Amino acid sequence: MTTPKLRMAMIGGGRDAFIGAVHRKAAALDGQIDFIAGALSSNPDKALASGRDLGLPADRNYPSWRAMLDAESKLPRDKRIDFVSIVTPNDTHFEIAAAFARAGFHIVCDKPLCHTSAQARELCDIVSQTGVVFAVTYNYFGYPLVKQARHMVRQGLLGNIRKVIVEYNQGWLATALEKSGQKQADWRTDPARSGAGGAIGDIGSHAEQLVSTITGLEVEAICADLTHFIPGRRLDDDANLLIRFKGGAKGVLIASQVEIGHENDLRIRIWGDKAGLEWRQENPNELWYKPDGQPVQLLRRGNAYLSDDAKAATRLPPGHPEAFFEAFANVYLGAAAAMRKDPKASIDFPTVYDGARGVHFIEKTVESAASDRKWTSAQWKP
Ligand SMILES: NC(=O)c1ccc[n+]([C@@H]2O[C@H](COP(=O)([O-])OP(=O)(O)OC[C@H]3O[C@@H](n4cnc5c(N)ncnc54)[C@H](O)[C@@H]3O)[C@@H](O)[C@H]2O)c1
Repeated sequence: MTTPKLRMAMIGGGRDAFIGAVHRKAAALDGQIDFIAGALSSNPDKALASGRDLGLPADRNYPSWRAMLDAESKLPRDKRIDFVSIVTPNDTHFEIAAAFARAGFHIVCDKPLCHTSAQARELCDIVSQTGVVFAVTYNYFGYPLVKQARHMVRQGLLGNIRKVIVEYNQGWLATALEKSGQKQADWRTDPARSGAGGAIGDIGSHAEQLVSTITGLEVEAICADLTHFIPGRRLDDDANLLIRFKGGAKGVLIASQVEIGHENDLRIRIWGDKAGLEWRQENPNELWYKPDGQPVQLLRRGNAYLSDDAKAATRLPPGHPEAFFEAFANVYLGAAAAMRKDPKASIDFPTVYDGARGVHFIEKTVESAASDRKWTSAQWKP
């Protein structure tokens, strides 16, 4: 028996957009998902033109997400879309995700999940009431060697974790790029569209999720120093945080978009009382393992000595580099397995609860910075 492909729609991701095209490629990579419908821009004419560029059938190429929701809801179950990928600026995620989830469609939504914890709670409630699958594309979660690092922590190879340093270093907002009309910079520096966090929301959210995924540590309190170095910018472009984790571990989190010369330098270092680990997304096929009293070891993607989940997240033999698209595709594979209720597949992807924890983290960071960098309790309860 052949397994029917899942039917995907996209909201956002039209002409000149950034991440939508990555989602489409990632979703297509494993041949399990067909992109069949879209409302690809906030501008109806541009939405339709973008859909034509991508070969969407005219009757599934919608001028707006509301038109898509209305029309798809009326189709029989075996024809309508299975899920929507939401790749619009942050301010729109909540309304779109809530509407589609309430109508019974599965959701893939980019980060940060939404603007406020109240919205995040509502999305979690809708998911528990409707049973829809809700994935949040924290794509760094999908890297095989991130899964390997998580496995090694779970196996106790690091012992008790004492310290984590996570950095997301970028330099692309080191000038007032938003004043030139560059659209990705424009909305990311606007609190109404980006949310309460600038760099801390845009990339600090990835850093928080990476720590949580690999270590399982829970944030207890935050002391945050947020700065905007560009005069007149309304959101932080540089974030420096001290973190206390439940159980006594300590953390440092840096998220900056003014570090000239850095591109997408997400890196994490973790030390326990038995060993250390180090991973960088700009060199994602390598994981450094530093056991106490032994030589440092370099683990490489695709090798037989890796954990089962790291091997399952790999498509090529070692030495053929895999990177961003493949990791992104792994989030789609996990979500697709859950949508199919596939008992054989490993269902492993960031969910609406990870997204909600991320929103809480951004809020508490902004709260700490606004209170003159006071230690702020930041425990999150699902
Ligand atoms: N996971 C990642 O690594 C990653 C990377 C980049 C961006 N993102 C996230 O993805 C989202 C989009 O970011 P981007 O950089 O691609 O933005 P972008 O500005 O390049 O694209 C946004 C798209 O959404 C469309 N849009 C806006 N409102 C809409 C509406 N109401 N209906 C339909 N379309 C609408 C715009 O027309 C545009 O096509 C953001 O939430 C961002 O944080 C995630």
